[in-house]
Amino acid sequence: MRFMSGVVVAVGLLGCGAPEGEQVPFETVGHTDQEIVGGVEARPNSHPWIVSLQQYGSHFCGGSLVRVSDKEESDIVLTAAHCVYDGYSNVTASAGAHDLYRPTSTQVTARVTVAVHHPQYNPDTTMHDIAVLKLDKPIKFDTSVAGACGQSSGMRPNLAPRLAGSNTRVPVCLPASGERVAENTMATVAGWGLTREGGYDTSSILLQVGVPVRRHQDVANSYRSEGIVIDENAMFGAGYQQGGKDACQGDSGGPLVIRGAQGYVLQGIVSFGVGCARAGLPGIYTRVSNYIPWIHTQIRSLSAVR
Ligand code: ARG
Repeated sequence: MRFMSGVVVAVGLLGCGAPEGEQVPFETVGHTDQEIVGGVEARPNSHPWIVSLQQYGSHFCGGSLVRVSDKEESDIVLTAAHCVYDGYSNVTASAGAHDLYRPTSTQVTARVTVAVHHPQYNPDTTMHDIAVLKLDKPIKFDTSVAGACGQSSGMRPNLAPRLAGSNTRVPVCLPASGERVAENTMATVAGWGLTREGGYDTSSILLQVGVPVRRHQDVANSYRSEGIVIDENAMFGAGYQQGGKDACQGDSGGPLVIRGAQGYVLQGIVSFGVGCARAGLPGIYTRVSNYIPWIHTQIRSLSAVR
């Protein structure tokens, strides 16, 4: 991973060594089961808001397209602050992608021209790990989603028949300001990151994994023994007590979504962990609902930038 810094690097180093969790190979498209670590291949374009952030053509982080007013295109991407904190020169964002090695006509790439990380982002604690990116050209939503957000046709495990002309580029919904996700709610995380801790096994194919949101106190207690403070307003944990399924290096900045009334909602941004998929150490996500006014302010001021 490029751009890792502070505790993130330290945490990453703790991640060396063989993983305990079983390796579940991802499955081919069309199979009913699923599962990044312990994940399965996403149905192509079923996470139509996800972008791959790349530098000199190599993937290093994920991000999510969000809506700018009611336009059917967007030049704004949300990601993790640690993805761009050390700079963003020659960074591009690709939307509509599935297999990064085999781009199709749905894939659109734009340059990142401005990256604003949260002013209180702290690389030592990874607090406020959120950034807003502006692209050099808007990415057109490929079907008119008519003011909607979070529309995915057939995200696993919901194997609804794929709609003809299903969307490949759609903005994700944002949560209400201050909204809290209930513990045990199932969330879906997607990314092109490592498929096992300490490995070099990245995936050129978009993978996804389902993980439950964990109770703050349990997450805070398990991370306290690692010397890491989990701030309830800024972060939340998601994963199984037994481990096995998680985001990993390279998934940072990418979306954790939960289905809402309007569509899929970006409740979390992949932030950090101790290793990947370890028992008792759920993945930690930026709590997006804590940053809604800040996000809107950034979108407004970046829209004025040309
Ligand atoms: N910081 C990592 C990155 O830069 C993301 C790690 C997420 N780790 C986890 N176990 N959930 O890609």
